[in-house]
Amino acid sequence: MNMVLKQSIDSDEACARTQVRAGFSLPAYYYEAAERYAKDMAIMRETSWFLSGHASRIPKTGDYFLIDIDNESIIVIRAKSGAIRAFYNVCRHRGSRVCLEQSGHARLMICPYHAWTYDADGQLVGAPDMPAWFDKAEYGLKPCHVDTVGGMIFVSLARGAAPSFEDFTAKMKPFMELYKPENTRIVALDHLSCPANWKLVVENFAECYHCTASHKEYGRVHDLAAMMSYTPEAEGGWLQRLKASGVWREGVLDDISSPHLQAGMQMLIGRGALSGGSTGKPMAPRLGELPEWTGIWTAVVFNPMSQVAFYDDHIILFTFIPRGPTETDCVLAWLVRDDAVEGQDYDPAEVAYMWRHTIAEDKKICANNQLGVASAAYQPGPYSSTETRAVETVEWYLRHFVDVDAQ
Ligand code: FES
Ligand code: FE
Repeated sequence: MNMVLKQSIDSDEACARTQVRAGFSLPAYYYEAAERYAKDMAIMRETSWFLSGHASRIPKTGDYFLIDIDNESIIVIRAKSGAIRAFYNVCRHRGSRVCLEQSGHARLMICPYHAWTYDADGQLVGAPDMPAWFDKAEYGLKPCHVDTVGGMIFVSLARGAAPSFEDFTAKMKPFMELYKPENTRIVALDHLSCPANWKLVVENFAECYHCTASHKEYGRVHDLAAMMSYTPEAEGGWLQRLKASGVWREGVLDDISSPHLQAGMQMLIGRGALSGGSTGKPMAPRLGELPEWTGIWTAVVFNPMSQVAFYDDHIILFTFIPRGPTETDCVLAWLVRDDAVEGQDYDPAEVAYMWRHTIAEDKKICANNQLGVASAAYQPGPYSSTETRAVETVEWYLRHFVDVDAQ
């Protein structure tokens, strides 16, 4: 196709739709157009829960952290009752951000502009020199939907009712109960800004076709061939052993009709490894009620943006948060048992090592992918036979965000 002509077509969604082809990556329009990104976000805010952290990060009343989703800043705070609450970080006076630090402790949240002051329940408790009609009770911080499962905190930006949290978490609970994430705490936290559209990031995370070429360190410990040949029906010595010990959980693999495209699956690490650090050896005390070192890891995909990896001795929370048409935050948190002692039972640098290394590689992959997609020479390319989950992620996106089925 003439390149000038291609560029003008890519700027138009109606024409982009005609280029959608089953089994091929998306037309560039979907990966870069600002108006398409705005539509994605309008839908995502009503339909999605975002994994936002873990309760261990805010143990005391007034402890808080911020999570930024698209152009919103959300305050997640431990309220006076001990419950976890979330509020839009928007002052009810004239709209300034109230909390400016990414995390901290604030018995009172004081807006830096004119010092309106809110308590940990979001109530306005101080507003100097306001007229007599003014009622502080009507000017609390606006609440944001928040809920927790296994200590993991999720927020939803839905303007009306949030999607059912019960439905969202039901299928994932059998996997989590093995590891008891509610009895863990964060020992490392990374925040990377990736210059790529959110779909390139979640597609990349849905396939391991790139692992051999791009994740040599990960592949040194994890047996990629064993992982890629996984099917829920797979049988083998390890599977029978896990079934006998009660660790085995039936795999979950949603099809594209699902609003959240969830997955839960257990995979062999391989090569005799018992955990996912640099040596494959255990790095921390075993989690939950695991009866033995299993040699597996469990992937729990709540939705493409919110994923969790459970190893026998640590947990990794992955959140991919759209921040702009070609910008996505990758937030990773590593957790170990809450009674583990640093320096004695675990080394946080070792616990975080493998995925700190791997996500840096993924950031580079996605950035290069975005650069190529921006070229006039880009045209959608065919997925391999092992990128099935990436294909489903694209088809799920088209179905639920664009209202189109790939042909
Ligand atoms: Fe917050 Fe004025 S904008 S006190
Ligand atoms: Fe990767």
